[in-house]
This record gives sequence, structure tokens and C-alpha cells, in this order.
Amino acid sequence: MTGRVFAVASGKGGVGKTTTAVNLAAAMAEADRSVVLVDYDLGMANVGAVLDIEPGAATLHDVLAGEADALDAVVEAPGEFDVMVGGTNIEDFGRADPSGLREVAADLREEYDVTIVDTGGGLSHDTTVPLGLADDVLLVSTPQGAALENTAKSLELADRVGGDVTGLVLTRVGGGDADVEAAVEAVDAPLLGTIPEDGAVPDSEAAGEPLLVYAPENPAAQSYRELGYELLGESPPVSFRDGDEDGEVSPGAAFAEVADDVPEEESLLSRLTGGRLG
Ligand SMILES: Nc1ncnc2c1ncn2[C@@H]1O[C@H](COP(=O)(O)OP(=O)(O)OP(=O)(O)O)[C@@H](O)[C@H]1O
Ligand SMILES: [Mg+2]
Repeated sequence: MTGRVFAVASGKGGVGKTTTAVNLAAAMAEADRSVVLVDYDLGMANVGAVLDIEPGAATLHDVLAGEADALDAVVEAPGEFDVMVGGTNIEDFGRADPSGLREVAADLREEYDVTIVDTGGGLSHDTTVPLGLADDVLLVSTPQGAALENTAKSLELADRVGGDVTGLVLTRVGGGDADVEAAVEAVDAPLLGTIPEDGAVPDSEAAGEPLLVYAPENPAAQSYRELGYELLGESPPVSFRDGDEDGEVSPGAAFAEVADDVPEEESLLSRLTGGRLG
């Protein structure tokens, strides 16, 4: 198998990378892919905390130090996907060789349909490694001016290290079209999706679950689900009635009511951009 590798990056910290990485992992798992999420924020490993999971036999830092095999550092997360958890000791940081991610990614491509690499804030050496090796770089930004400026700079840097930037994910969007328009103008990359501000996001982190598991019908969960399916080239599950006709209980039946509001014929991108991009 040769799986696909996504890197989730941003110019500014605290804009929603980890939330995006976790929930895209959950969405792609819902789409029946085998998924592993790599917590590549080497200085400040945080996926383990957000998903409330402990490292297994080894940590990503052990793997990057050449002391363990990639698959030894993989544990199961709530949401039907696996996670490679980083170490949290300060000594771990010194031991880990960031460029070891290349080998790790090669191993994970053999085992999983999808590898999602969550990175730290900004573009340090640590983050340029995943940008260079990913098939798809997803840039995450909030709609605020400063974050967008940093995102535009990250885009340039990603290009310089040969990163394949697939596009921008706009998070914590307040509901105004103006926000989205400003982002489309500020960043010269396709807008892949917008995720609304949703108070259930911090609640899901407190519960140690992806939002897609904690509150699967919430607006941000639906947006991450749509984005996850679309990145895989599939239509998001708009209705589950097809499954019902066969007399089967569909695992996604709970979303059908919410999803009914979504016009089927229009693509996500064209809805977000008023047809400007797709
Ligand atoms: N759609 C959303 N609605 C509300 N809050 C959100 C949303 N997305 C993220 N947050 C909150 O924003 C904060 C930062 O999110 P997150 O940890 O995902 O960012 P990050 O880019 O990974 O940060 P860092 O650069 O520190 O790793 C968290 O407290 C999270 O709960
Ligand atoms: Mg993070």
C-alpha cells in the first residue's frame, strides 16, 4: 500500500491545527480509511492531551531517536483511528531528530491509507520537514488579519521547501461572509473549507474526544466531515436514507436531519466562495 500523507501547518500558533488534524482523522476514518495521526509538534506534543490518550510502548520521540520502530509508537484513539503520540519530557526534545520523519512517513504509508501530520506553530526546521514530504499541505488560519498575513508568508516558505500546498482551511469563522472574502483575497491558495466557531470544540477536548465523536451533528463537526470527504475526492454523507431503504441501520443516520439543510447539487467550495473558486 502507498498511503497519502497530509501535513497540517500554520503561520501563527493557536489557530486550530490540532483541532483540524484530529477531526480530519476522525472524518477520514468515518469514510472507511485506515488513518494514523502523527503528533509532530515536537516541542509541545499535544494530541495526546486533546484525545486523552497515553503513549504506548514507545513515543514518536523514541522513534525519531532511533530507539523504536514506528508502529511501536502507535496507539488507538477514540474515533476509529490510530495516533502516534509524542513524548512530553524536555529531554525527549533533545533526542529527537526531526528529519527522521521521512522514514517514519515511509513506514506509515505502507500501513495506512492516510497519515495526517500535525505540526507545531510557525515554520521552524521541525515544520519544514513535514511540509516537504507531504502529498498535501493544508494551511490552517483564522480569519484575523495577523493570522492571514502569517499564512501568506507560510505559503511562500512552503513553496520554497517544495511543499505541495493543497489549500487553506479557515477556522473559527464567525459567520460573516466578509471574513471568508478577506481570507480568499489575502492568501493565494484555494479555500478548501471553513470551520465555524463552535463552543463544543473546547468541550470535546476536555472530554478527550474528537468533536466528530463528541458532538457529531454540531456545525464544526459537519464542516470537518465535509472537508475530510472532499479531500478524499468523495461526497460527504448528505443523506443516509439509501442505507435505510436496504433495511440497514446506517452508522451516520444521526446526521441525516442536519445534512438535509445542505444543498446537494452545490460543491462545498462553491457554496463557500459564491462560485468564485469552484
Ligand atoms: N472551530 C472552533 N471553535 C471554537 N474553538 C476552537 C475551534 N477550533 C479551535 N478552537 C480552540 O482554539 C484553541 C487552539 O486550537 P488548537 O489547539 O487546535 O490550535 P493549534 O493551531 O494546534 O495550536 P498550537 O499552535 O498551540 O499547536 C483551542 O483552545 C481550541 O479549543
Ligand atoms: Mg497544536
